[in-house]
Amino acid sequence: MTDKINTSVHRLTGFQDDKKDLSLFATVPLGVEELTSMELLKIGANNIKAGRGGVSFTGNLATLYRSLLQLRTASRVLLQLAQFDCKSPQELYDAIRILPWNEMLTSDMTLAVDCTLRDSNITHSHFAALKSKDAIIDMLREKTGSRPNIDKKSPDLRVNLHIAKNHATVSLDASGEPLDRRGWRLDHNNAPLRETLAAAIMMHTGWDGTVPLIDPMCGSGTLILEGVSMAVKQPPGKGRRFGLMRWRNFDHSLWEKVLGEEQALALNCLTVPVLGYDKDPRSVIACRENSRRAGLEFLAAFDLKLFEEVEPCNGHGMLVLNPPYGVRMGEQETLKPLYRKIGEIFKRRFKGWTAYLLAGDLELAKLIGLKPSRRYVLFNGPLECRLLKYELY
Ligand SMILES: C[S@@+](CC[C@H](N)C(=O)[O-])C[C@H]1O[C@@H](n2cnc3c(N)ncnc32)[C@H](O)[C@@H]1O
Repeated sequence: MTDKINTSVHRLTGFQDDKKDLSLFATVPLGVEELTSMELLKIGANNIKAGRGGVSFTGNLATLYRSLLQLRTASRVLLQLAQFDCKSPQELYDAIRILPWNEMLTSDMTLAVDCTLRDSNITHSHFAALKSKDAIIDMLREKTGSRPNIDKKSPDLRVNLHIAKNHATVSLDASGEPLDRRGWRLDHNNAPLRETLAAAIMMHTGWDGTVPLIDPMCGSGTLILEGVSMAVKQPPGKGRRFGLMRWRNFDHSLWEKVLGEEQALALNCLTVPVLGYDKDPRSVIACRENSRRAGLEFLAAFDLKLFEEVEPCNGHGMLVLNPPYGVRMGEQETLKPLYRKIGEIFKRRFKGWTAYLLAGDLELAKLIGLKPSRRYVLFNGPLECRLLKYELY
């Protein structure tokens, strides 16, 4: 039986609005939970609690909108509807069926159900999603005589079911497309970082636009563009469409108000050079195009250059880089000279600078030959990496 239906869910879903806060949850890549918590604090969220791979928080509708517009390290934002114990498929079906889906879905809307499972009697996420979808459709058929269609790719309403230790949480996915897809990046072959990971790296560096920034191996420009966008306080969700915009009673005027408030804080210039270099001409073209698409083309410059030829543009500043690391057999060997060179150039040329390097291979990183003053654990997909800080005195 559903023991906790969240009656605070606003009229946007059809649920009653009793002026209580919404229960919200940001799913985040492993290792960035604390950074996301800090971001949530800045946007005025309450009851922020970080767990593994996610952060729960509460707030009103404006907080939910602000979280979609402003969170840089989160993958999705979920609006929690109900929580209940569930030890069997029948219990799951019964608890989902009594939720007021008729207030959230009409027959001309489309639906999808996602499920994640951990340490529970129900062991197949696909089966649990199917059972939940059946419960929703059966409820709607009974109440309204009609049913919504299923659209797994781009539904009007995406329901998220999470079952851990036989305790289920049912939520609506407010994000739609994952939040890391900012919409400005034209991907190409050079292993670009996820925007959420690049944002996490730039947050760890603390770069705030007051000292020069160089990425001498910039690939698609993700680190530079996330850093610049953060320094000028550009909302990463600006101009994007989100899942909740297709919900019933989406509050367009509140959205415009929140967007206006966030945009009013944005700056339109930086007073320091921001430079990205790469040895691959396709990267440089992609970076320029990406910076234009991100609306940041006058704030950073990208050029073709070998790392070995990059010179500091100032007596102090920040270097940030994500050199290639060998994923295929034999690659590690061919990359060794590059890592030795990185160490030499750091030492000889960049005295007075601070460098941050994302290392996917610690054996290669050791060849830099300098002692990092800090290390942060981050995950690039499944790969555990280290962000290493070097003070180049
Ligand atoms: C892992 S990718 C960087 C991806 C980037 N951080 C992003 O998110 O798009 C490494 C980049 O280093 C560049 N690179 C490798 N060796 C280089 C060198 N000696 N000089 C300049 N660029 C180099 C590659 O062309 C590639 O674009």
